[in-house]
Amino acid sequence: MNPSAVFANKPNQKLKIALIGTGIRGIGFWGKTVVDQYSDIVEFVGLCDINPGRLALAKKYMGVSCNTYDHFDTMMKDTRPDLLIVTTVDATHHEFIVKGLEYGADVLTEKPMTTDEVKCQQILDAQRKTGKKVRVGFNYRYGTLFSRIKELLAEKTAGRITSVDFHWYLNTYHGADYFRRWHGYREKSGTLLLHKASHHFDLLNWWIDSDPVEVNAYGKLEHYGKNNPFRGENCRNCSHKAECKFHFDITKDDHLMKLYVENEKYDGYIRDNCLWRTDINIFDKMAVQIKYANDVQVSYSLTTYSPYEGLTIAFNGMKGRIDSWQDLPWRTEEKVSQDERHAREMNQEAEEDSSAYDEIIVSENFGKSELIKVPFARGGHGGGDRRLQDQIFRNPDLPDPLKHAAGLRDGAMAILIGIAARKSIDEGRPVKIDELTDLKPGVERNSVV
Ligand SMILES: NC(=O)c1ccc[n+]([C@@H]2O[C@H](COP(=O)([O-])OP(=O)(O)OC[C@H]3O[C@@H](n4cnc5c(N)ncnc54)[C@H](O)[C@@H]3O)[C@@H](O)[C@H]2O)c1
Repeated sequence: MNPSAVFANKPNQKLKIALIGTGIRGIGFWGKTVVDQYSDIVEFVGLCDINPGRLALAKKYMGVSCNTYDHFDTMMKDTRPDLLIVTTVDATHHEFIVKGLEYGADVLTEKPMTTDEVKCQQILDAQRKTGKKVRVGFNYRYGTLFSRIKELLAEKTAGRITSVDFHWYLNTYHGADYFRRWHGYREKSGTLLLHKASHHFDLLNWWIDSDPVEVNAYGKLEHYGKNNPFRGENCRNCSHKAECKFHFDITKDDHLMKLYVENEKYDGYIRDNCLWRTDINIFDKMAVQIKYANDVQVSYSLTTYSPYEGLTIAFNGMKGRIDSWQDLPWRTEEKVSQDERHAREMNQEAEEDSSAYDEIIVSENFGKSELIKVPFARGGHGGGDRRLQDQIFRNPDLPDPLKHAAGLRDGAMAILIGIAARKSIDEGRPVKIDELTDLKPGVERNSVV
């Protein structure tokens, strides 16, 4: 079944949505944006969070009149939603996905679906038992550049693909930000191999159109965390403001002040925490090799302290090669500062610049190279955020020729690469995907149940 048909509305009835996790992603992208764009076909029936201050703000910010809950089971029993949206801290997703399914709801979860193999198996079991649907919000697939790459691969433009080089650079604003709060602890985020790289592993699975079978990885924390001579309580109260290049003045951001700082008193969640906390225990550089069931091999890396934010990707095929990149300073005339760039990326109000474009070069072995210009969409993850939501809420029954919609198995395969990579680093050995859960890799993606 096409996962995009999962949340098809009942005739003449609005889709009843409950949401757990009223943080920035929950109240923004899956909250206010959904209310603003789709209120003719959906209605929020409940909001839940452990922080009462953020919960109250969520209701106001989203402009909804539904009840709010500090207890998940009470919300589910009271509201009986058609769809549960899960936007809590990554390591807690499984709890709500499993219970949500058991309460009879379909579930839309933010990535990563969960953070370890035991929780992943629990989700797989719950979905099989209940027959309800799980969908993962993999918005990157929907970006214009990534979709065009998928088309070229589907057309076999470079022949059969044999290997892929994929390198992702987070800059000293965006990359650093992950180390300020819960993402810096593997117990909460599963490390950036799950929290961030699961986006990239999903893209690889989708592009390569096969399942991963084995992963070998290296990773280390050598920039952030304990690796600095000084540290402070948090950026607001720090005595090293002048000398710390990473100083982040949260007081300049009204939204973050209201969402986090004003609600610290309830749970001690500090949004502008020190990057140099000694208990940060995730990697800040990661290198991962992946072997796929169709024999494609991937070299992937993630760097979190780059001077610029960007990526390079290359597909080596039997007949040629496909190269692409985004935001490499020596390839672009873009004169945007790196902090402004990050703010634009997260902005849902896509400002399309009709003259801007991304580039793909297709080179034939013994032949010519062709430059393909892909119209550029910066806002909301390359315009992907809006297209994802339209497919879920507005047009669930439209054909999905490039198979953008990501279901449970896609969500699982993306995180299983991250889990295998973390295990490989911890245990110093290659890790097979089929040793983690009962999912067996297939030569064709989604061919094995
Ligand atoms: N797809 C994307 O591009 C994208 C972008 C940003 C965030 N995300 C994902 O969205 C999710 C939320 O991220 P965020 O940046 O909004 O985080 P956040 O910290 O702002 O929000 C998390 C919220 O969950 C609440 N929470 C935590 N544990 C809970 C529990 N046990 N029960 C109820 N509430 C609980 C917190 O109080 C907080 O309000 C994460 O899984 C993240 O990976 C995805």
